[in-house]
Amino acid sequence: MFKGYKRLLFILGCMAGLILILSRCMNAANEIPPDVRGENYTGAATCVKCHSKIGDSFAHNAHGLTSSPANEKLLSGFLETDSNSFAFNDKMKVKIERRDSGIFQVAYIDGKQVRAERFDVAFGSGEKAFTYAYWKGKKLFQLPLSHFAAIRTWANSPGFPINKMYFDRAITSRCLECHSSYISSETKQVSALAMDEDMKRGSLIYGIDCERCHGPGKQHAVFHLENPEEKKAKFIAIYNTLSRKQKMDACGVCHSGNTLTTIQSVFNFKPGDDLNDFYAQDFVSFGGANPDVHGNQTSMLQGSLCYRKSEMTCQSCHNSHDNIKGNMPIYAQRCISCHQTQKHSVKTLKRGVLKSNCVNCHMPMQPSKLISFQTAGNKNVNPYLLRSHHIGIYP
Ligand code: HEC
Ligand code: HEC
Ligand code: HEC
Ligand code: HEC
Ligand code: HEC
Ligand code: HEC
Ligand code: HEC
Repeated sequence: MFKGYKRLLFILGCMAGLILILSRCMNAANEIPPDVRGENYTGAATCVKCHSKIGDSFAHNAHGLTSSPANEKLLSGFLETDSNSFAFNDKMKVKIERRDSGIFQVAYIDGKQVRAERFDVAFGSGEKAFTYAYWKGKKLFQLPLSHFAAIRTWANSPGFPINKMYFDRAITSRCLECHSSYISSETKQVSALAMDEDMKRGSLIYGIDCERCHGPGKQHAVFHLENPEEKKAKFIAIYNTLSRKQKMDACGVCHSGNTLTTIQSVFNFKPGDDLNDFYAQDFVSFGGANPDVHGNQTSMLQGSLCYRKSEMTCQSCHNSHDNIKGNMPIYAQRCISCHQTQKHSVKTLKRGVLKSNCVNCHMPMQPSKLISFQTAGNKNVNPYLLRSHHIGIYP
């Protein structure tokens, strides 16, 4: 009898084990972590389990790094090599100081501390610049000093007064709509003209992640976990089937400049959506005007003959996941793929580097009309240079 009891236990044990194994297979969905954006999302950590190569390049890509916690790891490189001090004039100066609870921008008047705020959030991958913000309750404010790559030092934040140490410029969720994957926020009308916004600090997803560009991907991930033999993508937008406008909109959601008024949060935008449902102005009409180079590659490109006379999209030149920044021969290959021959005058040919660098002549660097920056003790402003996406013949 005892023997029989043991055997029963053994069989029951085996069955329980089997059920456990089976249920794990069947409940792949349970392995998918939740995401603050809602039940259709899962987060980049899940995507890179199967798309590890893309995950690797993405980790060093400007999109992935365009916002981050402004902590010791991010800042220490600058702190070791700089005076960490910016004098507005003889009396006023802002210093960058390490303190027990973090790294601070500290304002002094005649050597006396008048204000100290901590670095919390960094904006930018640092390619051209970093600008920083601190949390105060449910609001973010920009810190007075930004770091500019071109001069490798601290400078007065763009557009900030030069005779005042300014800590009160609010950073709204609008910045985060282009520079992050998500933040939960609530806006209320406080008077006829003014709105007030509260943001939920813990809900911020730094960087532009997979699902920001590809749309919610939980169902896709669950399906492929459960059906590993399926090699064709299911439940995710297939980029190649999008129309040209849909492709342009998928980038234009963040690359059409920041003067447009949003009708609804562009955090909801996914590939295939029509951008006109998100922005108040009709964007196509912007093409002919004279847009600022900053953040507005879409309108500039649309004004070019290349764009108007071909099926060009952003992908004609850019890979979405790789970082080919500065690799001019690769870009030249993209030009040559459409322009196998070019009619250059003898005068132009004499200027040289034709084959490997089309871009310097036809997409020159131009200063932004909106952004410039001021260095300590210097009344002149330094330009913020960007690549013109108006491809053309420049003098
Ligand atoms: C369990 C594995 C798995 C996970 C997790 C996964 N994918 Fe996929 N994905 C695949 C497979 C398989 C394909 C089809 C083969 C291919 O294109 O690589 C695919 C294809 C794709 C494609 C190409 C669609 C096209 O244009 O053909 C995209 C985009 C994509 N996945 C995005 C994502 C995103 C975003 C996530 C995270 C939310 C994710 N994947 C998570 C397995 C996975
Ligand atoms: C969610 C907003 C968002 C979307 C969508 C987006 N971008 Fe960007 N992109 C940015 C921001 C912000 C930067 C600046 C990154 C930094 O901090 O350096 C950037 C930078 C870039 C750069 C310069 C960095 C580099 O690696 O050379 C290129 C090129 C670019 N984007 C192309 C694209 C293309 C093509 C698409 C469409 C497939 C796209 N972007 C979609 C926000 C976005
Ligand atoms: C409409 C989308 C959009 C909005 C809104 C936006 N940006 Fe940007 N930002 C970009 C793009 C795109 C770039 C990449 C280069 C370029 O075209 O200027 C960029 C570049 C930057 C950079 C330099 C990044 C680098 O690595 O060199 C910083 C810093 C920055 N933005 C901060 C901000 C802040 C702060 C706000 C809010 C006040 C803001 N941005 C609002 C799209 C946007
Ligand atoms: C800036 C927007 C953007 C981001 C961020 C992004 N993708 Fe993509 N992805 C695209 C676009 C656009 C395509 C279409 C083809 C192309 O341009 O390479 C694409 C294509 C793909 C493909 C199919 C083609 C291929 O290269 O295998 C997969 C799979 C994919 N993405 C997965 C991911 C994953 C995983 C992440 C996050 C680690 C991610 N993507 C982040 C824009 C993006
Ligand atoms: C997708 C195809 C395509 C790509 C890629 C492309 N172009 Fe073009 N480009 C065209 C077409 C089509 C025209 C119009 C030709 C015509 O009407 O004779 C054009 C016109 C031009 C012109 C004449 C512009 C004018 O205003 O007179 C220049 C210069 C030019 N392209 C340079 C370039 C350079 C440099 C690159 C790479 C950075 C490039 N193109 C990439 C298709 C392309
Ligand atoms: C004809 C080729 C071509 C097309 C099409 C194109 N770009 Fe670019 N883009 C370039 C080149 C070349 C650079 C400079 C790269 C470098 O400096 O490494 C560049 C740089 C950028 C940058 C970095 C900003 C800067 O000034 O350094 C952004 C952002 C960008 N492109 C976005 C886009 C977007 C969005 C689209 C589609 C609306 C697009 N590009 C279409 C060729 C192109
Ligand atoms: C040194 C500056 C310079 C470089 C480098 C350069 N171009 Fe040009 N390009 C010009 C000028 C200037 C013109 C106007 C005609 C002239 O005076 O030669 C022109 C004209 C053009 C045209 C219009 C004439 C035609 O052939 O239809 C195209 C297209 C073009 N270039 C493409 C390219 C491509 C592609 C490259 C790279 C392989 C390139 N250019 C490199 C300066 C340059």
